[in-house]
Amino acid sequence: MKKLIYQIPTDLFELFVVELNGYGLEIINKDEENTIFAIYAEDSEVNSLKSAVNEIFEDLGNGKIVLEEDLQEENWEEKWKENFKPIEIPPFIIIPEWEIYKENELIPIKLKIAQAFGTGLHATTQLVLSLLPKYVKKGDSVLDIGTGTGILAIAAAKLGASKVKAIDIHDKAVEECKINAWENQVNIDCEEKSVEDIDDLFDVILANLQIDIFRKYFKYIPSHFKKYLIISGIFKDKEKKEFLDLAKAHNLEIVEEISKPESPEKSEDLWYAFVLKHS
Ligand SMILES: C[S@@+](CC[C@H](N)C(=O)[O-])C[C@H]1O[C@@H](n2cnc3c(N)ncnc32)[C@H](O)[C@@H]1O
Repeated sequence: MKKLIYQIPTDLFELFVVELNGYGLEIINKDEENTIFAIYAEDSEVNSLKSAVNEIFEDLGNGKIVLEEDLQEENWEEKWKENFKPIEIPPFIIIPEWEIYKENELIPIKLKIAQAFGTGLHATTQLVLSLLPKYVKKGDSVLDIGTGTGILAIAAAKLGASKVKAIDIHDKAVEECKINAWENQVNIDCEEKSVEDIDDLFDVILANLQIDIFRKYFKYIPSHFKKYLIISGIFKDKEKKEFLDLAKAHNLEIVEEISKPESPEKSEDLWYAFVLKHS
């Protein structure tokens, strides 16, 4: 197991996280200027991880490696757990499986494993979680595109969706989705599949992806939902405009728009989520 320590300007960090899809990332220090973080990787994965990170750094025009360390297996397990604390996103509370949960009015989503994107910490996930109670009704069928840990699919199932499917292109994410669904005692069909291969019709579709994926694959989504399409992962006004044009071109209208700043210090850098329906 290796620990790779990187540095990137703080204003590019969130974009980096979205691009990388969050595998085993730990923030070591974050200030106004720079964020220093570690990524953990099996020895067999180190080279492919390094080139993926370098590619993103090149795309973003900044970022560098600071240190590479060898780690014991147990270390990695403990490090990951240390950084994962319960987080409340009403009506849900995301809790790591090893935390003792005291019953309260929030709906618990237990994550046994969260190395894929979807710990509930990111604004894009939180936006969708806060929209779900209004748009997912008992008995609805729901598809979660790009499920990561399975967090949104589990939330939909806990709200009473009857048939929930979750897809992701990463086999590790699909594995995590299955484990986390089991941990929450909900029935989710987690499958390794990409957007363009959706082959069913759902009441509601959730898609927390990113603009370059929507640019390429959005056209495959609208014909597969009946009631609502909930989109997240749209960053700042330029992407918002591009996404809204895309939605309009597919005869979709906005039912609701919400946003959340990337961080309290950066209130002008907004992540957007949209609820859409057929016009
Ligand atoms: C931003 S994460 C969202 C994770 C989780 N749904 C959440 O809201 O926290 C996006 C996920 O989409 C997956 N993904 C990327 N391209 C995809 C594609 N073409 N089809 C399906 N999933 C994809 C990534 O592997 C990643 O797990």
